[in-house]
Parts: sequence; structure tokens; C-alpha cells
Amino acid sequence: MKIDVLLGLQWGDEGKGKGVDLLTPQYDVVTRFQGGPNAGHSLEFNGKKHVLHLVPSGIFHDSINLVGNGVVLDPVKFDIELQGLQAMGIDPFKKILLSRKAHLILPSHRVLDAAIEHAKGKEKIGSTLRGIGPTYRDKVGRDGLRIGDIETIDFKEKYNKLKAKHQLLLKQYNFEYDLAKDEEEWFEAIEVLKKFEFVNSEYRIEQYFREGKKILAEGAQGSLLDIDFGSYPFVTSSSTTIGGACTGMGIAPQKIGKIIGIAKAYCTRVGSGPFPTELHNAEGQQLRDKGAEYGSTTGRPRRCGWLDLVALKYVVMLNGVTEIILTKSDVLDEFETIKVCTAYEINGEETLEIPFDINAPINPVYTELKGWNTQIKDIRKPEELPAAFIEYVKFIEHHIEVPVSIVSVGPDREATIHM
Ligand code: IMP
Repeated sequence: MKIDVLLGLQWGDEGKGKGVDLLTPQYDVVTRFQGGPNAGHSLEFNGKKHVLHLVPSGIFHDSINLVGNGVVLDPVKFDIELQGLQAMGIDPFKKILLSRKAHLILPSHRVLDAAIEHAKGKEKIGSTLRGIGPTYRDKVGRDGLRIGDIETIDFKEKYNKLKAKHQLLLKQYNFEYDLAKDEEEWFEAIEVLKKFEFVNSEYRIEQYFREGKKILAEGAQGSLLDIDFGSYPFVTSSSTTIGGACTGMGIAPQKIGKIIGIAKAYCTRVGSGPFPTELHNAEGQQLRDKGAEYGSTTGRPRRCGWLDLVALKYVVMLNGVTEIILTKSDVLDEFETIKVCTAYEINGEETLEIPFDINAPINPVYTELKGWNTQIKDIRKPEELPAAFIEYVKFIEHHIEVPVSIVSVGPDREATIHM
């Protein structure tokens, strides 16, 4: 049984939480393979909203949930999430496994994130300030602390060594901070982590694979925030595209089966960086209001704009997407006409490619489609969808050459149409 992967295809916040939650009943194991508590995966069922940051979204079903080696884990944020799950009667200690090779976010990583962002001034990335960048920097710089280190006798020494390095770095930034309280909390949270089974996850996944268990890998953020292929430097610090699934879990590419991409019927972005189809007008506000477009991790208002098929086609190519889950389609219900960007105009020339120079002024070339002007949130069967909506879906499929398999028309599990 091949391993299926679910990836966000835009700038994150596409509705991956709901996507995984919908798919999970078909899987025995759900894994996270990159990112950290910068992610916010929202799920809604029985009239309640739940936001997960580090815990794989299979936690609300019977699946095993594995935090892979590519993830960066903040024990304090993780503990807060666990408490929320326990309050719901879920025993996380039995259902979650942690890779020994996943890196730990230290309190001083969070401080460094804030200091570095502050120093960038107007050029700031708009980071979630969860310590993600500095932790991946230490990973690549071969200085990081990993979950497996918790089991070693010199863990505290390793911690102090890394903290001392951070303190030295922080001297450059003239940034006020006080680590004492955060460190106390952090070490308390490390004790909670010890209650979990630490695994050599690459072997464990291989074992599950050989046993014929069905595995779903859940990506965080989105392809347009990828460290290599996103709008660098306005990106996150991990590989959010398909290669990240291989390195973040230790699986060979030929073991991958379906590559399910999740995309909103329009676009949103939080943080800084280029966004060619961004709307700075009443239509943008309408998308924000109707789509409740406020960050689930930081609460920041999201920037909103029309669907960008140049970008979508690019990430379909990068990831080899085999099918699409189209989310938040109902947010477009009240638009008379809907625009879709099908090309970019740069320096008077039309192109279908994303330019290297992210500062290049891009004019989106739009195709205008008829809106459906009908509420679709209560529709559950594809044959009941309005003709103009079907046209919208066909238009997307035609451009990106991938079928839309599921349409989501609301946050609840039930608000789903299998096409
Ligand atoms: P960082 O990953 O927290 O350093 O943030 C880098 C950029 O990625 C910022 O623009 C963030 O807003 C964005 N980002 C990080 N995680 C998410 C996410 O889960 N959803 C949407 N944007 C994100």
C-alpha cells in the first residue's frame, strides 16, 4: 500500500486540517513531516472548531499519529495542545509517536526569531515568531538539539551549549529578553514529552508500510512558502513541497502513491512577500469577511485575492499533484463575476512562469467567469451544484490538468462534496 501525501498548494491556510480529517478514516497512520507550531490546522465537527499546530490531524480518529524527523517541535506549545486534547477526553500519549530525529525549538530560538525579525525592520518576513527559522538554521548548521537527545545523560549540557551560542548571537541584536520563566516551562514540558514513545521513525514507517498499513503524510504551510521554490526570502524554513515528505519521514519516492493537493477557490497569504492577485478593495474585504480570513496561529488578518492559476500550475508541476481538494468555494457565492489569473504580464510581456525576481512588478492577466450567485454551503451532491460553479471547477481543471476530487463548501466535516 503506497503512502499518500496531502500538500497545501498556496501560501498555507488552504484547509489542510479539514482535508486530513476527511481522509483520515481511510488511513491507519497519519504523519507530519515538516514545519512546526507555525502551522494551524483547523478542523470543525459537532459544531466545534479545533486548531492543531503540531499534532497530526488524525488525532480525532483511531489512527496512529507520528511526528516525523522533518518537524521542529516546541515542547511548550505541544504541551498546550495536549492539554486541549485531554480536556476532550483524548489520551494523546497512546496515539502519538515522536521521531527521535525531530529537532527541538528552544526558548532562545523563539527569542532569536523575534530579534532577527525586529532587526529586518520594513523587510521583515512576517514570521509567526515561533522560532521556526532559527531552529532549522541550527539543524542545517549542525548545532541542533533533537528529541532523541532527551534520552542522553548530557542533555542539559547540550541544551546549555546551544543556549550559550544563542546568547552570543543575541548580543548583536541589542534585544531585551528574559529566558528564566520560559526555560522553567520548557523543562517541565520536556518531562511531558518523556511520556511519549520516541521512535526511529524511518524504521517505524517502513514497518507500517510492510505490514500494509495505510499511511497519509500531512504537509504543513503551502508550496508557495517552500524554502526553495517559494517567494524567497518571504518563505518558511522547510521544504513544503513533495521532496520534504521523503526527507521529513525517511521514505523513498517510489513508495508515494497519491499526491493530493489542497487549494482554496481563491488565494490568501499572511506575512510579507509578493501576492500578484491580491485585492486591496471591497472585494478583498468581502473575501476576508465571508471566509473569516484571520490566521489560526497568530490571529492576523489574511491578505486576500483571486485564484492564481499561474502559481497553481507551477506547484502542480513541482509536486506531481494527482488530484485536488478545492476548499472554501462557498466564500465566492455572492460574487456576480469571479476573476481567475491565467498569466502574468511583466514589463509588457505575457508569461506563464513565475519570475526569479520577486520584486518584478507583476500585472495579473485575468479571465472573468460568471459567478453562481447561489448559496452552495448546504449542497452535498455534485449534481446539485449550480452550472456556473461546475464551469469554474472545469476551468481550473483544464488549466492545471488535474481533476478536482473533493469540493469543500464549509468548515464542517459534513460540508463536503465528492465529485
Ligand atoms: P515562519 O515559518 O513562522 O518563520 O514564517 C515565515 C512565513 O511563512 C510568514 O509569512 C508566515 O506568515 C508564513 N507561515 C508560516 N506558517 C504558516 C502557516 O501555517 N500558514 C500560513 N502562513 C504561514
